[in-house]
Amino acid sequence: MATARGPAYLLTLGRWRRGLGIATQSRALAALVPGVSQVDNKSDFLGKRSHRRHPGILQLSHVRLPQVLVDAAQLLLLESSMPNMEKQVQALTNYLWSRHLPVEPEELQRRAVHLEKKFLENADSCQMEKLCGEVLHALRRTTYHWQELSYSEGLSLVYMAARLDGGFAAVSRAFHEIQARLPEFQPQTLMDFGSGTGSVTWAAHSTWGQSLREYMCVDSSAAMLELAEKLLKGGSGSGMPYVPGVFFRQFLPVSPKVQFDVVVSAFSLSELPSKANRTDVVQTLWRKTGHFLILVENGTKAGHSLLMDARDLVLNGKEKSPLDPRPGFVFAPNKKPKEEKFSMVILARGSPEEANRWPRITQPVLKRPRHVHCHLCCPDGHMQHAVITARRHGRDLYRCARVSSWGDRLPVITPSELPPSPAQDPPES
Ligand SMILES: C[S@@+](CC[C@H](N)C(=O)[O-])C[C@H]1O[C@@H](n2cnc3c(N)ncnc32)[C@H](O)[C@@H]1O
Repeated sequence: MATARGPAYLLTLGRWRRGLGIATQSRALAALVPGVSQVDNKSDFLGKRSHRRHPGILQLSHVRLPQVLVDAAQLLLLESSMPNMEKQVQALTNYLWSRHLPVEPEELQRRAVHLEKKFLENADSCQMEKLCGEVLHALRRTTYHWQELSYSEGLSLVYMAARLDGGFAAVSRAFHEIQARLPEFQPQTLMDFGSGTGSVTWAAHSTWGQSLREYMCVDSSAAMLELAEKLLKGGSGSGMPYVPGVFFRQFLPVSPKVQFDVVVSAFSLSELPSKANRTDVVQTLWRKTGHFLILVENGTKAGHSLLMDARDLVLNGKEKSPLDPRPGFVFAPNKKPKEEKFSMVILARGSPEEANRWPRITQPVLKRPRHVHCHLCCPDGHMQHAVITARRHGRDLYRCARVSSWGDRLPVITPSELPPSPAQDPPES
């Protein structure tokens, strides 16, 4: 996702790495500067890899639900014998996808004043009495009526049938981003806000099952918690859970004393009734974050807007963590794969490591004869439309760009990070 502000797309946690005594990988970088059409010929960013596997590639083309989870979900659906399941799944999918944000009280007030003025302009004295009623009627007609979903036993089951695979895939992509860039990161604890069916736990177990020993699932719906527990136990109410160390809570613990290595909220901020409510939750989640806060929402305008608010809240430091003063930074932006369109933001604690400030590709890469169009979001937040050719940028960079996709990072450095150069070509795009 493109952003015009803040230190976007910074890679690693310097403090975190040093704390674990992990040697910084030295990778030379190619250079892509508007007007400076050269590749760093000393660059070793590829190491022994082929261009097709350059280190900025983060696509996760195929994600498969664990078979035990599929079996458990199918068993529960068979047992439930709910009527018209397919229709209900489609209806819920459409509803969630087309959902807007709740209208805030200030916005409602603003619209009421505007309507009142408009009606007053056309009203005579005998119409004045009707004014109030008309304003209310017009407000009702023109304002989006957001409704809270109550995840009963039935709706939880429909949600599972509709969203288990998509939720799992989106969150897996976010986890993959961290794992691919920080293979040394081995989280031990995870908290999932609005855990629903538990897809985050399953995805985390698939990614970091070796190190994770505690998964805290928080959901206000008792029916959802029960369903998630059943899924972990193969679809039954008894037996050993497939993933050990999973705990369920109905309320979000607010104390900042206990932090989790990874904190996730997937498709749950959009379930909260107001901005004030979301602000409270994001602040609490950030306080509980030891290393990464991962927020995922639908790839819609509403989903994107929610995440930008959350990002700004953390980056602007409005949220104060009394026990953890380390600032936050954006670890990863959005990715919208074809199959599951979602928005995500990964915020991390610490300071970003300089060496890996590679720009992110923010639109589909356009491959044309002998040149490639890449839209990049650079580490300083600026957007750049680069036209990369082998002749101007060198074969390495050209081939890397050709095999990259939307959401990947391009292994280049941007002007502010280069030593000053006496002569610069004019911008090429
Ligand atoms: C759309 S579901 C998302 C479930 C899951 N995270 C996923 O990715 O599939 C949203 C969940 O948030 C829960 N929820 C809504 N408001 C909540 C709150 N204030 N505290 C905790 N959970 C909440 C709902 O009960 C529901 O299970």
